[in-house]
Formats: sequence, C-alpha cells, structure tokens
Amino acid sequence: MDGGVGLTALLVAAARTIETHRHDSLAQDVYAEHFTRAAPVCADWPVRLDGVPDGDADPLWGRFARYFGLRTRVLDDFLLRSVSGDARQVVLLGAGLDTRAFRLEWPPDCVLFEIDRAGVLAFKHRVLTGLSAVPKVRRLAVPVDLRADWVTALTTAGFDPSAPSVWLAEGLLFYLPSRAETYLIDTVDLLTTGGSALAFEAKLEKDLLAYRDSAIYTATREQIGIDLLDLFDKGPRPDSAGDLRAKGWSASVHTPFDFTHRHGRGPLPEPNDALEGNRWVFAHKPLP
Ligand SMILES: C[S@@+](CC[C@H](N)C(=O)[O-])C[C@H]1O[C@@H](n2cnc3c(N)ncnc32)[C@H](O)[C@@H]1O
Repeated sequence: MDGGVGLTALLVAAARTIETHRHDSLAQDVYAEHFTRAAPVCADWPVRLDGVPDGDADPLWGRFARYFGLRTRVLDDFLLRSVSGDARQVVLLGAGLDTRAFRLEWPPDCVLFEIDRAGVLAFKHRVLTGLSAVPKVRRLAVPVDLRADWVTALTTAGFDPSAPSVWLAEGLLFYLPSRAETYLIDTVDLLTTGGSALAFEAKLEKDLLAYRDSAIYTATREQIGIDLLDLFDKGPRPDSAGDLRAKGWSASVHTPFDFTHRHGRGPLPEPNDALEGNRWVFAHKPLP
C-alpha cells in the first residue's frame, strides 16, 4: 500500500480529507482521514487546508486536492443518477479507498463490486473494520489485478452480465497499458446490457509528458515523493470514448473545468496545466 500505484489511492484519500473539512465542501468522506492516519507514509500530510502554509495556492493540497473533491462529487452524482433507473449492480474499477458503499444512499437492492489489487483492498478492510464501519449497500471486494483475468473474479463474486450495470473507472486508466485499457472497455461492453452506464477519467495523450514541470506534478513529486508521471503508462492512449461510440454507446466528454463552472468551485485552467488534458467521460449503452 505504501508504494507505487497504491500510494495514489492514499493521495486521493488525503485530498478527500481536506475537501471534507472545507466550509464549501463538494463531497463529504468521513472515512478518508482514517486511511491517511493508518498509513505511516502519510504521517506528515495535512488533513485540513488551514494546516497548509499556502492554503488554496498550494498546487498539491490546494488546487489538486480540490480537483479530487470535485471529481468525487461529480462521480457520486453520476452513480446515484445511474442507479435511479433499472441498474442495480455497480462496479468500481480500481476502487482504491473509495468509500461510496459507506457514505452514499443507495437503493436497497443494489450490489457494489470493488475491484483493486489485494494489498489495497486488505488495507482498506483493516481500516474500515477497525472503525466498525457498516456499508449502506451490499458490498463485495474483488481483489484482482486488472491486467489479469478480472472477469472471472468479478463473475465468481456474483456479477450478472444479463442485468444492467453501472461502471466507474476513476483515476485508473492512465496507469494501465493501452491494451489493458482497450481490453477493459471492450469487456465492459461485453458484460453490459442496454441501460448500463460507464464513467471514466482519461488523459489526452499529449498531456502525459508535456507537463512534467507543471506546478501539480512538481509539487506532488517534491512534497510527498510521488512521481505521477513515473506511474502513468507512457504508451499511446486509445480513444476509448470513440471506441464506445463505435459500439453504439453514447459518450459525452467533459473537462473538469466544465464542472467547476457548474458547481461554482473547483480548479480553473492555468498555464502549463497538468489538468488540461484530463477528460471525464460519461457513456451510456442504449436499450435495444
Ligand atoms: C489514483 S487511485 C484511485 C482510486 C479510486 N478510484 C479513487 O478515485 O479514489 C488508482 C487506483 O487504481 C488501482 N490500480 C492501478 N492499477 C491497477 C491494476 N492493474 N489492477 C487493479 N487496480 C489497479 C490502484 O491500486 C489504486 O487504488
């Protein structure tokens, strides 16, 4: 948990901790702080913005953390909207320390599958068990690497491909090799019926190395020792929104800044901006 991509899950949890304590919070996650307190690597990380010398001007704990707060809120809304219809299965791909099972109000007959690597899910289980946290939905952890045979793991856990489902890949795809992303998108298509939905975060290809010296990547590297560009896959990125459209899905592509305007708070564009290439994609598979 303390190394590599697992560490990025802690970064997002730390950002949610700060967001939770903001007076104008976009999303509340009371569990996030417990994850960061349980991981020695986060011992020096702030839990409130007023513990950050530059406050909102800090590229990591100000702007980047706010980005994660906004992303959390937008995808909370997407998931709850998506289960207001017929879909009752939710699959979180690269779930990390996502606590939506514990903090959102789900329809009672929903089931939520959380896929991540075993070490990340074991750490999450340990912390949540220590808090006696109770999920508000039937929750099934599916420890598997998304570069391996995750379909067998998911169906063995009880996922039913003949019923509609909602999928989320939040902060995940750019860690995967291109072929694993394409396999993932193709597989979601194969495992879904009409009426299903998928949201994912992608990065435009040019973003990956062009912004190495951006304030966000530099601050993340220098303040907490996470070199995000080292962890991202460097190969060419597939056009997954285009691939889904070719399979008959609808897909709308947004910048995070679209939602900053919608919510009246969040990051705005800036020069040499690591967030410039980030896209949030919302895809729906039509009913036959
Ligand atoms: C930046 S975190 C995001 C976690 C969560 N979706 C969120 O937004 O809070 C990325 C997550 O993807 C997971 N991940 C990355 N590559 C993976 C792989 N090959 N198989 C399974 N999980 C993976 C990591 O373990 C980590 O938990």
